[in-house]
Amino acid sequence: MYQDMYKEEWEQLFLIHGFAVEEINSKLNKLYETYELSGESNPIEHIKARVKSYESIARKLEEKEKSVNVPNAKRYLNDIAGVRIICAFTSDIYGILETLIHQTDIKIIEIKDYIKKPKASGYQSLHILVDTMVQLSDCVEHVPVEVQIRTIAMDYWATLEHKLRYKYFDKAPVHIAQELKKCASIIKALDRKMMVIKKEIDEYEFKDHEDHS
Ligand code: GTP
Ligand code: MG
Repeated sequence: MYQDMYKEEWEQLFLIHGFAVEEINSKLNKLYETYELSGESNPIEHIKARVKSYESIARKLEEKEKSVNVPNAKRYLNDIAGVRIICAFTSDIYGILETLIHQTDIKIIEIKDYIKKPKASGYQSLHILVDTMVQLSDCVEHVPVEVQIRTIAMDYWATLEHKLRYKYFDKAPVHIAQELKKCASIIKALDRKMMVIKKEIDEYEFKDHEDHS
């Protein structure tokens, strides 16, 4: 845990990131409700939101060989505030991205597509960095929020890989990393296959409608 002399600084960091997460989470929940009302199938399965813990912040800064303090956390980490959207199909991810791009009350700073270009580990997701403005008693602070959008299959892989890798403190033997990467390509193939099935069903439904009109 942090030293008492920096308590206030850390508490303020968690407070502002908590506000930022709440703001984006609430906008995304409204989007979810809107999709529900639209009568079409909702591209969002579920949404999770969290503020990174002190322990995770410290670990990540140490990995980056930076000393653990609030200014460095703000400078080097952009996922202290994080929201995750889980979808069924890969096409849903890009559909949501389009919606967010056109949403005037959400300011996108950066988009990183780890689906088109997965990380070396095999990790796949779409990362969107969003800017929020948090009003404090004496000033306004810009707080970044990392929105990760992924399919259920990508989430399954990321969750298990994270759990397994954690045991080795990020220094997993090469063959384990290779096995996990193989699993990532199976996940990719599975998502592709599901998309093909979905397309066929969509076309079938469309044809069915035409036949009855
Ligand atoms: P950088 O510019 O490298 O910081 O890219 P980034 O911010 O898009 O990715 P970063 O490596 O900072 O990771 C951000 C988050 O993505 C992490 O906290 C994880 O939630 C997730 N993530 C990234 N890489 C992996 C991975 O290899 N495995 C898992 N399970 N999650 C990952
Ligand atoms: Mg990052």
